[in-house]
Amino acid sequence: MTPTTEHLAQQFIRSFTTAIATIRLYDITHPQVMNLCRQAIDQLRPIFTETNDVTIKIINDRLIFQNTRLAENLSVNRLIKTLRDHDLSFIKLDSSIHSNELLQTAAGFSRPFQSGTVSTATDKVAYGKVAVRSSVQQPSTAGTNFQEIIDENFDKFMDIFQNIGHGKKNHVAGLGEIVEQFISAFCDQGNVMFALAPIRSMDEYLYIHSTNICLLNLAQARLLGITGPLLNDIGIAAMLHDAGKMFIPSEVLNKPGKLDDREWELMRDHPRLGAQYLLNCPGIPRLAVVTAYEHHIGYDGTGYPVSFRKLNPCSYMTSISDIYDALRTRRAYKEPLSFDQINSIMSGSAGKSLHPHLTHSFLTALSQLEQQ
Ligand SMILES: [Fe+2]
Ligand SMILES: [Fe+2]
Repeated sequence: MTPTTEHLAQQFIRSFTTAIATIRLYDITHPQVMNLCRQAIDQLRPIFTETNDVTIKIINDRLIFQNTRLAENLSVNRLIKTLRDHDLSFIKLDSSIHSNELLQTAAGFSRPFQSGTVSTATDKVAYGKVAVRSSVQQPSTAGTNFQEIIDENFDKFMDIFQNIGHGKKNHVAGLGEIVEQFISAFCDQGNVMFALAPIRSMDEYLYIHSTNICLLNLAQARLLGITGPLLNDIGIAAMLHDAGKMFIPSEVLNKPGKLDDREWELMRDHPRLGAQYLLNCPGIPRLAVVTAYEHHIGYDGTGYPVSFRKLNPCSYMTSISDIYDALRTRRAYKEPLSFDQINSIMSGSAGKSLHPHLTHSFLTALSQLEQQ
């Protein structure tokens, strides 16, 4: 298997396992699920030009794609666990499989295993238990980078956010470890803005959005020379800025079209709900509570909730990161904007809804990155 094929296989597994986890967290109608299944099929398409089917199997606790052992990471381990949980040791996909059929497969894997729930074979997807003997090539090694940290922490983050939605308060502190990994990866970068490379390829989704805002906030804070415990707190605050969204009904949160007045009122309550929740969580920095409450209040006092006082700098940074991420993300109803378009919109808001100096320093660093 060529490095490209292995890369595509890894991408497929990441998209597929993320789709399964998203169905578990939200439900099958979440628009991100279909996007992920489409992405997963697209990732297999180049491989299907050379073969009629692909088989992914477990041999000796390792995941084998066709005849090659895949390098371990959390997505690979998650797929191994999912297959095991369903008492399976292989899955075989036909080259004619459509994203809808992969969606049904992901839905089957998202449910707790009961005998026969997922293992009904179709002409596009076959499952089973098999004892396989095979000569297996060694995996390629890959260096640690931001994308890997993001992938490896997916389960932990989903677990934490699921607990938030259920009102549990004792797991949130685990986010600190994820932020520490980001910070140490930042320290390995010559230019802090290079660390933003992974955010470019991601879509909207609470995990992706939260890690994007975390990376963007950490980059802004590093540009200001912030280090040490404050940097950690800024990263944790970013990860949790939208925690209140876990209390918004999913039909409102995931509505693809425009919100009506009543839905918009509910949505506008997420800063208060998030702050109220975090206030009672042990081990959460006060900065995270304040940021959750203030991140939609403008520099000029516009936005929500109503506030008449000067905001915390981390709240200003978070609203800059939030707006940048929203403008650069593809949504069902809009294409992502180019950097020049984003630059002109955000420059126009500097000194109004956005903090002027923080916005200019962020945009300057980003335009230098663009030029490179
Ligand atoms: Fe928000
Ligand atoms: Fe946000």
